[in-house]
Amino acid sequence: MHRFNDPKEFQEQALADRARGKTTALVPTMGFLHEGHASLIRWAAANADAVYVSVFVNPTQFGPGEDLEAYPRDPGRDAALAESCGATALFMPAPGDIYAPDHCTWVEVPPLARHLCGASRPVHFRGVATVVSILLHLALPHVAVFGQKDWQQLALLRRMARDLHLPCRIEGRPIVREADGLALSSRNVYLGPAERAQAPGLHAGLLHAAALARDGQRDAPTLKAAIAAYYAEHVPAGEVDYIEIVDPENVQPVAALEGPALAAVAVRLGRARLIDNELLRP
Ligand code: PAF
Repeated sequence: MHRFNDPKEFQEQALADRARGKTTALVPTMGFLHEGHASLIRWAAANADAVYVSVFVNPTQFGPGEDLEAYPRDPGRDAALAESCGATALFMPAPGDIYAPDHCTWVEVPPLARHLCGASRPVHFRGVATVVSILLHLALPHVAVFGQKDWQQLALLRRMARDLHLPCRIEGRPIVREADGLALSSRNVYLGPAERAQAPGLHAGLLHAAALARDGQRDAPTLKAAIAAYYAEHVPAGEVDYIEIVDPENVQPVAALEGPALAAVAVRLGRARLIDNELLRP
């Protein structure tokens, strides 16, 4: 596995791979890799000749007072995991390698960034869209791979790629969960034992709504209220940021289920802000 810190050297590798006729895949991450990331890298390795993994804790997607400094990091373990899953190149730039001191170019996708996580994290998606756009310009991949846990991010990046006519497919892969249902996340390390015990309730509440939808409940406010009641009982330490039912493609709230819809939640449990989602199929 080749290792790069310098954007130009990484791009030269990507250009050389393309010139040799290789199909290439990029897996952008913020590091502290877990089995969820591993599944993305393995998928990329099974579907492309060259697999690039980027590890970059992107400062511009953190708002004031968020966990940029505390965000867990373990570059040595990340490198070993990426290589064992089939990465052919690892890109680990420093913030100054990506952003010039007078950086002033931003990518925004406002209609998909306003709701859900964007409501409490107003600069987050501007930072995500900008850094992913930069990474795509450096890596020039045929496909970029993201987890479906960050469904809003995935929908927004698909729209960005479409609107900018990027020659890159955005692939979303299923959420990887612990045996008890908790979605894997680098931020799960913030959970204390009592919070960890309640955290699987997040997904259980979503499955409860999915069962109601399957049984014929189509009214979004009723489904949201059912999830909220489930959390009040099973995740009492949780502070709900949002519970929403949205159109899976444009992530706009829906009033009723006309077809598959996405139930999406964010809940603060102690220091951790957890997100999860589930497709509801009426
Ligand atoms: O999902 C993440 O880990 C990040 O938002 C991403 C896509 C790597 C951009 O920094």
